[in-house]
Amino acid sequence: MKKNNIVLVGFMGTGKSTVGKKLSSKLGWGFVDTDDWIEKREHLSIPEIFSTKGEVYFRKVEAEVIQEVMASEHQVIATGGGAVLSLHNRSRMLSQGTVIQLKADADTIIKRVEKDTHRPLLQGNIKDKVYEIMEKRKYAYEFADIILDTSAGSVDHLVEQIYARI
Ligand code: S3P
Repeated sequence: MKKNNIVLVGFMGTGKSTVGKKLSSKLGWGFVDTDDWIEKREHLSIPEIFSTKGEVYFRKVEAEVIQEVMASEHQVIATGGGAVLSLHNRSRMLSQGTVIQLKADADTIIKRVEKDTHRPLLQGNIKDKVYEIMEKRKYAYEFADIILDTSAGSVDHLVEQIYARI
């Protein structure tokens, strides 16, 4: 095990929380979802934070939460899909953890998130939004130490693959 934490990054709907929870129990490590921390800290849901305080405010809190959680050890940390947009966040993730990018193709993501009402960036025409944001973030996740495709295969298999490589 090279580093003290495992950080899962990736586009919305790539399975960061689902894989993260299973991986953490396999390792006997803690599990942290940065979006959950943000909601607890702000006493507001993610959509409420976006609508009342705006995305810039959300990104500020997200960066603070990432800094806080990365300071501890032996945790699997699932980050929000946009956390990697900040160079500061990316450097912190790489210095304090093994960064794993989960990826999936656009159609798989659309299927997973199409009923979603909890993601402010995907309101309206979800399909168009997914393609548009994916295009903008094309290279944003490539800094990761390990890249895994979650489009096919079971969660257990993905967890095994990660376990074998860390
Ligand atoms: C976001 C992804 C969301 C959440 C927020 C913004 C993004 O997390 O942080 O809605 O910018 O991609 P998930 O990746 O867990 O959906």
